[in-house]
Amino acid sequence: MTDFDLIVRNAHVITASDIFDCDIGIQGGKIVQLGQALGTAAREIDAAGRTVTPGGVDAHCHLDQPMTPPTKTADDFDTGTRSAACGGTTTIIPFAAQQKGQSLRAAVEDYRARAKGKAHVDYAFHLIVSDPTPKVLQEELPELIREGFTSFKIYMTYDDMKLDDGQILDVLDVARQHGAMAMIHAENSDCIEWLTKRLEASGRTAPRFHAHARPMLVEREATHRAIALAELVDVPILIVHVSGREAVEQIRWARAHGLNVFAETCPQYLFLTAEDLGIDDSYKGARCICSPPPRDKANQQVIWDGLNDGLFTVFSSDHAPFKYDGIEGKKPNGQEVEFRHIPNGIPGLETRMALLWSEGVLAGRMTANRFVELTSTGPAKAYGLHPRKGTVAVGADADLVIWDERDFVLTNEMLHHEVDYTPYEGMRLKAWPGLTLSRGEVVWDGRDFHPQPGRGELLARGAPTLLPTRR
Ligand code: URP
Ligand code: ZN
Ligand code: ZN
Repeated sequence: MTDFDLIVRNAHVITASDIFDCDIGIQGGKIVQLGQALGTAAREIDAAGRTVTPGGVDAHCHLDQPMTPPTKTADDFDTGTRSAACGGTTTIIPFAAQQKGQSLRAAVEDYRARAKGKAHVDYAFHLIVSDPTPKVLQEELPELIREGFTSFKIYMTYDDMKLDDGQILDVLDVARQHGAMAMIHAENSDCIEWLTKRLEASGRTAPRFHAHARPMLVEREATHRAIALAELVDVPILIVHVSGREAVEQIRWARAHGLNVFAETCPQYLFLTAEDLGIDDSYKGARCICSPPPRDKANQQVIWDGLNDGLFTVFSSDHAPFKYDGIEGKKPNGQEVEFRHIPNGIPGLETRMALLWSEGVLAGRMTANRFVELTSTGPAKAYGLHPRKGTVAVGADADLVIWDERDFVLTNEMLHHEVDYTPYEGMRLKAWPGLTLSRGEVVWDGRDFHPQPGRGELLARGAPTLLPTRR
């Protein structure tokens, strides 16, 4: 008879608030004891003084999301969670997207089926509300929030998703009444369309012009409007994938006025610039097309500053996986098309944690505690998963990463997604997860992935715990 199923010995543990050295005792997939010289276990792993952080919580990714044919997301719940595990992420929150005309309930059931039997690590769903009919607002959305789908995304752009201001007010009011977190994609749709038509009329349709059609102004205006609409309803919101200075200024303004406006950013706004979409008319820049687009070096610094000073609560990948070659991805039907027809989004589930650990913590730009807050604890709190997820503590799931420090050059060959490129090809990194545990089970050992499709659970979520509860 042993005391534990597993002991991780000699761990240098980092949480969002503390740093300490201990053994970690794991039983039934949970952390049950933290201490020195813990007793016996059926299995032991020696961390040998290496850094141990909570497994990552990637709160923004798109897996197996229905698209207009021929476009298709390259990763499903099998390959997406495989890639997550190998990059140190043990919880993902992709989107159950409502199509216009579809019931929200049907969208959730469709997603349950898409994930069933496939996921290697735990997952939850945000909803995407694209058709807020009276039934959705009065019945389906409140019921789904009560069942634990406590966050949803709304779009201010994309014809098949966008809501007008009146609709946004209606769904924000549901979030307020039922305690959900509303995530907002803030870009002004009409400005983008107007700019796109002008670019097309003058023949400027190469991938790089995607960034010209979505300048910071369109993000600034929509961010400002989203904040005003949330103020009117009196509800917290979270602005997703913030790209640079102008949106950041709006969020700082809101905070200074006492509004509960939270924010998310992503690796592409730290490590890419608009030049990655092309400095000439080459089609290769299609690889880095995402919305909002990456900006410039000065804006990268604005994002680093916001990560460090608490402006951002969440650092997500916004993994939206489309192959470069083939008919389903960046070249629809195998053709090089005008930028308006190139699927938006880039892969990043597997590289999110190592990029920030390497270029943030090990490069001296960010504390290790802040890294944990942004990649794990913050998203777990924002989306009702904390303290089960997002920390190393007694009672939490034994989702852990042991970090290996080593210099290497990142290549797509190393990665486990189904996308045929990484936007970060050739970057020198200083660390990679040497081991990933999901509820006490090894899913990645630093060399090999340990597949167990279907072991990942759909997580029941509570209300966001970033704010005091309303009484
Ligand atoms: O370009 C992006 N970000 N694609 C994914 C969809 C979204 O809006 O997050
Ligand atoms: Zn978005
Ligand atoms: Zn997204």
